[in-house]
Amino acid sequence: MAILITGGCGYIGSHTCVEMLSAGYDIVVMDNYYNSKPEALVRIKELSGKDFPFYECDIRDAEGLRRIFRENKIEAVIHFAGLKAVGESVRIPLAYYDNNVGGTVVLCQVMAEMGCKRMIFSSSATVYGTGNPSPLKEDMPTGAVTNPYGRTKHMIEGILQDLCVSDPEWSVILLRYFTPIGAHESGRIGEDPNGIPNNLMPYISQVAIGKLPRLSVFGNDYDTPDGTGVRDYIHVVDLACGHVRAVDYALTHTGAQAINLGTGNGCSVLDLVNAFVTANQVEVPYVIAPRRPGDVAVCYSDPTKAGELLGWTANRDLTDMCRDTWRWQNQNPRGYDN
Ligand code: NAD
Ligand code: UFG
Repeated sequence: MAILITGGCGYIGSHTCVEMLSAGYDIVVMDNYYNSKPEALVRIKELSGKDFPFYECDIRDAEGLRRIFRENKIEAVIHFAGLKAVGESVRIPLAYYDNNVGGTVVLCQVMAEMGCKRMIFSSSATVYGTGNPSPLKEDMPTGAVTNPYGRTKHMIEGILQDLCVSDPEWSVILLRYFTPIGAHESGRIGEDPNGIPNNLMPYISQVAIGKLPRLSVFGNDYDTPDGTGVRDYIHVVDLACGHVRAVDYALTHTGAQAINLGTGNGCSVLDLVNAFVTANQVEVPYVIAPRRPGDVAVCYSDPTKAGELLGWTANRDLTDMCRDTWRWQNQNPRGYDN
């Protein structure tokens, strides 16, 4: 029996493949390479010392998916595949609804047809929206999202919960990620954004290496200790380990569960810049810029439920996140294109 990993060549997917293999699971990976490269697969195999089937396939391609299920015994799916750029989702919302929502519906239809009813879904802290105070807990109201990307995550959560109500054989874990950063400690896999990064950590590391002149800090007038936005940064390898625990859980339970994956610690933009400078002995020049539309001031998790249900807690700290990001950036200045 194997676990199918959609979007397994991407940032979080590639790290999860390595952790699933080292936990002893067999995996099958699929990706359409929309935001990833075949080199990621080479490195996953190198790090794990294991081989596995790969399919270049789109989650909207029902016939392609059926072939994967026919050729492999799949007992659960970890579903990463999707589009994730918040700003782009405002410009081209239909592409987000088609790929994320439409693609997930096709995937679930094929899974049901093939008798595989266990899914771990990549949701996001963004579903908590603007109305809730941190620390954010799973039973708080969701849906006051600020962009189409966030709406796709909220809609998919609802679709998967409806599915569990309609058929008690389904088992779904909605993993609400806080802000993943860092890279595998080997420096062989990491985040490889196209063009100028949208997110803070890849931006910091590209400034540190001299690819970009300076960081713009989006707002220093928030109601936070230093005025800059506060987030719950989580090491991508801790996040990947959370998926291994979620698979263990989904194989032995049914129904839908939303679970936060975060550290529970709030860290400001300037805290992260300072941690990066100290951990790596580099310079990161920055200027204060206007707030980014749609950002909340503070967003961090209460990770208690993940501890209770999955026996999982994050155990890598900010220094690990900064050091591992820098090792990846230094060893792969052009990402997987080297
Ligand atoms: P990523 O872009 O690196 O990985 C996504 C992968 O899915 C890519 O390899 C891409 O080529 C593939 N893909 C996209 N559409 C596809 C399709 N239609 N068919 C097949 N493959 C497809 O992103 P990531 O950072 O690894 O994120 C993984 C998941 O986690 C996404 O669903 C994302 O929305 C969610 N998430 C990410 C973050 C974050 O900050 N990185 C936060 C919360 C949630
Ligand atoms: N920031 C800057 N300058 C930059 C980039 C970001 O100051 O160049 C600030 C932001 O304003 C925010 C913080 O850094 O205060 C973190 O921003 P990111 O874009 O790195 O991360 P977010 O937490 O805002 O968003 C990420 C993903 C979303 C996801 C969310 C919650 O990008 O897709 O985590 O999971 F929804």
